[in-house]
Amino acid sequence: MTQKKKPKVYITRRLPEVVETRMRELFDAELNIDDSPRTQPELVAAVKSADVLVPTLTDRIDAALIEQAGPQLKLIACFSNGVDNVDVEAAARKGITVTNTPNVLTEDTADMTMALILAAPRRLAEGAQILTDRKGEWAGWSPTWMLGRRIWGKRLGIVGMGRIGTAVAKRAKAFGLSIHYHNRNRVRPDTEDALEATYWDSLDQMLARVDIVSVNCPSTPATFHLLSARRLELMQPTSYLVNTARGGIVDETALIKCLREGKIAGAGLDVFENEPAVSPKLLKLAAEGKVVLLPHMSSATIEGRVDMGEKVVINIRTFFDGHRPPDRVLP
Ligand code: DGY
Repeated sequence: MTQKKKPKVYITRRLPEVVETRMRELFDAELNIDDSPRTQPELVAAVKSADVLVPTLTDRIDAALIEQAGPQLKLIACFSNGVDNVDVEAAARKGITVTNTPNVLTEDTADMTMALILAAPRRLAEGAQILTDRKGEWAGWSPTWMLGRRIWGKRLGIVGMGRIGTAVAKRAKAFGLSIHYHNRNRVRPDTEDALEATYWDSLDQMLARVDIVSVNCPSTPATFHLLSARRLELMQPTSYLVNTARGGIVDETALIKCLREGKIAGAGLDVFENEPAVSPKLLKLAAEGKVVLLPHMSSATIEGRVDMGEKVVINIRTFFDGHRPPDRVLP
């Protein structure tokens, strides 16, 4: 960074200590020591005074907020891979650059996706609950106790074959699942060959054919409720849905209805439509063992968060050195 005056960087949540220390060394950093989510008025004050805003996915950086930004705000350096919480077009109109933290969350998110692909059909959470929360219920092993569904030999349908979808496919192949995918564009033939993956141009047809659906596409206006009531009903009654992407991609009300009516067998969800609120109906389904619910933690590893922080630092430094930041998000 060549400029003398350090950029004023406003960070909305607590970050790993090593990242905060680095931010303090390099920038005029305003940290959020108590980690409470910033209110909209606090964000307004921030965009009026800071050169850089570092939001996380829980901050709503919409057009109304961006409109109020002062001329000094030059960069929104998101501490997240997804930028569905930021109106990137409104930022571009104001001449504000937006960056994110891609790549560094891929493997962690794919690991947790794989964990849910295993956990939902094999009733992992329910089994754990029986020993911990529903004590006394286990009378010992029996041939018909806690039977789940076999994973090996089943068909996995990946919705969105980007970095995370591909990393999920690699893992799933090792667990004996055959790989099916739907994506805007077909992936390279060598990737398809290595994964022995079948491409489905029609999402509807793929949903009707597979045993487990994994949602791994980004959340955009085009993917809102991509898994609609109509599409969920195409799935088989023995099938499972796993979502580690964003809640809004699946019509949650329709999913709950399908689960209650036995139109699909179960689900593993790490994301929800109205986070941090989780529908009581989903909680009830979890208590009944029909769904495995996690509190949006697929990417939550110490290493991943430190890597994200390093990406944010590089994006800010590169920007203030007068270059295009490596992770610029275009509208
Ligand atoms: C992201 O950064 O988009 C992830 O969803 C965080 O878990």
